[in-house]
Amino acid sequence: MSEFSPLVFSGVQPTGNLHLGNYLGAIRKFVALQASRNCIYCVVDLHAMTAQLVHEDLEDQTRAITAAFLAAGIDPKAHIVFNQSRVPQHAELAWIFNCVARIGWMNRMTQFKDKAGKDRENASLGLLAYPSLMAADILVYRATHVPVGDDQKQHLELTRDIAQKFNSDFSARIAKLSLGVEMMVGEERVNGYFPLTEPLIEGPAPRVMSLRDGTKKMSKSDVSDLSRINLTDDADTISKKIRKAKTDPEPLPGDVEGLAGRPEADNLVGIYAALSDRSKEEVIAEFGGRQFSAFKPALSELAVSVLSPISVQMRRLLDDPAYIDGVLADGGERAGAIAEKTMKDVRAIIGLLA
Ligand code: TYM
Repeated sequence: MSEFSPLVFSGVQPTGNLHLGNYLGAIRKFVALQASRNCIYCVVDLHAMTAQLVHEDLEDQTRAITAAFLAAGIDPKAHIVFNQSRVPQHAELAWIFNCVARIGWMNRMTQFKDKAGKDRENASLGLLAYPSLMAADILVYRATHVPVGDDQKQHLELTRDIAQKFNSDFSARIAKLSLGVEMMVGEERVNGYFPLTEPLIEGPAPRVMSLRDGTKKMSKSDVSDLSRINLTDDADTISKKIRKAKTDPEPLPGDVEGLAGRPEADNLVGIYAALSDRSKEEVIAEFGGRQFSAFKPALSELAVSVLSPISVQMRRLLDDPAYIDGVLADGGERAGAIAEKTMKDVRAIIGLLA
């Protein structure tokens, strides 16, 4: 009996500017994983419709995320980069997962509750079913690892629940068709068609916080642009935002434990660590006891040195949309071939004549 071969999948929505949270929580990890794994990175344009239906600039936003992937160092030849809607098997599997998943599971998702707000009856059905499409994105490739920021953890737990329920509901048919793969679930050895995907969330900045309020996530929907560093910000803007970032009056502590209860200090140290591929311990070893007036200029310099080349390269790539479209078309074709292979099995497992 074979085992799942390691495969990385992740996605980013083409809605609004990318910020430092997206970069450190996701894209920087995407780049690093290329050295050791086969990777598929997707611009999830079908997800963009769930909270807001009409986007005048969806094509350009899709190209901008693709340009950010490439500018950050993702190699679209060695790996796969594409936009979700090009591979209709995502939507096909999502429908099947809509019938596997339970409404109660979806209702418990904190992102649904946040995005739907008080008027839940008026949220789109797509917003409720969002995690089912996300599970399909991952499982249509039978991906084993998914790098994401901490805010996606609950969606990935749900992805495992969907895989597990499918594997168990269809276990007899999976066995009859000899399509099962052996895997460990806790202590138990089981046979299933879909892997139980592992989230990759660890690192010093799994949840980058707002520069204006260390208890709030850095987000593209925050009204204050000073709360986030956008990947398109120039060097002066980055420095200004770090200079104005909220801090407390104490110097940096002498050890990492001293960051507890100091959300703004913790956030800035985490950002410095993630941008320099170091741990928070190492950053504190260098800057412990120093004032923010000394730490902030060092952080600015580091942020500009990492982010500026990316934004320059992004702009260069966006001057040639035909090249970007070519990358997405080529990636879509290669992704589609893998996805169709899975869907052939899934249709047979369910009993859909095709
Ligand atoms: P999205 O587009 O909101 O965000 C893209 C990635 O950025 C991470 N992220 C953060 N990480 C750290 N700190 C922050 N402040 C921060 N803000 C955002 C997110 O965790 C994410 O990794 N549902 C997903 C997109 C998606 C997906 C998938 C991801 C659709 N299908 C399949 C993985 C696998 C989302 O809305 O991400």
